[in-house]
Amino acid sequence: MIPEENFKEIEELIQEDQELLAGVKKALESIEVAKSLGELGEVRIDGLGRKGLVKRVFDAIKKVEDKDRSKWGKAGNLLKQTAEEMLALKEAELEVGEREKEYRDEAVDVTLPGRAPIRGKRHILSQVTNEITDIFISLGYRVVEGPEVEEYYYNFEALNTPSYHPSTSIQDTFYVKGSEGTDERPGEILLRTETSPVQVRVMSSEKPPVYVISPGKVYRRDAVDATHSAMFHQVEGCAVDKGIHMGHLKGTLEVFAKRMFGERRKVRFRPHFFPFTEPSAEVDVSCVVCDGEGCSICKGSGWLEILGAGMVDPNVFENVGYDPEEVSGFAFGMGIERIAMMKYGVENIRLFFDNDIRFLSQF
Ligand code: PHE
Repeated sequence: MIPEENFKEIEELIQEDQELLAGVKKALESIEVAKSLGELGEVRIDGLGRKGLVKRVFDAIKKVEDKDRSKWGKAGNLLKQTAEEMLALKEAELEVGEREKEYRDEAVDVTLPGRAPIRGKRHILSQVTNEITDIFISLGYRVVEGPEVEEYYYNFEALNTPSYHPSTSIQDTFYVKGSEGTDERPGEILLRTETSPVQVRVMSSEKPPVYVISPGKVYRRDAVDATHSAMFHQVEGCAVDKGIHMGHLKGTLEVFAKRMFGERRKVRFRPHFFPFTEPSAEVDVSCVVCDGEGCSICKGSGWLEILGAGMVDPNVFENVGYDPEEVSGFAFGMGIERIAMMKYGVENIRLFFDNDIRFLSQF
């Protein structure tokens, strides 16, 4: 609002110069309608600046007759004061408006649901490995790891596997190119076919008692299908002490089966053969799907094979410098993929290695 009284007075004072008066009116009006602080700044220069209207009113003083001088001076002062007051008011008003606009533009809708960051998680095989090792750690075992590129000696010879055993052939085992072979063995360096060599390494460097489990990758020259992979994972374990017998093995594996697959699980031992254990057994757990009734998963038998085990062969003890008359022990080994497939109903081993997020995120 242009203050009416002030304007009337200015109008009276400079009524002789209608053109200037029109300019004054226009200038004051443009203060009124300024839409932004930037625009107001320009208006201020037009009104109060060095070439502005107020200056023009004061300049007029020099040209008018003496008697009119005080009148024009008064008009100039009044105009200056009016313009300044109006500018200050308008500036305050625009500042509030612009701040409000800023707040509005930057406003955050706190009622919107948050965007959850994508979180990674352990691979299902790592989870199952941890589950298995946790069970044995709680029974007093220690986790040990060893090389995946292994010596023939630790993988076969020390484990009482004769060179004529089919598993030593190049049809079954990956030998490292360039490692010297002899008539008897295809090569000295190979990709380990099981994690038992880790236990040989431990026993070769430590005195009994030994309670260890060794998880890790193993390699076999198998054609890939729904249940076979040329690389897979194992957890093998052994307990060597004075007076260890088959009952300890059965009790330990029963605890493992129940913790892993549920309290209702039973285990059964079937006679088998492994070069490094005597006697040896394949161990079954009552079917996790039908609870032993017989279904398509257990092929009607009510049992699922979960691992191989046995009492450590005296020849292995001799190879690592233990006295088989002094100590005895048991050993066992299982495929982690197999355990995971049974526990979670996964039907194809390839799913573990495809790394399709739609599969992995289910676990
Ligand atoms: N190493 C055997 C395998 O790869 C499993 C096993 C381990 C069996 C220890 C007996 C004792 O199948």
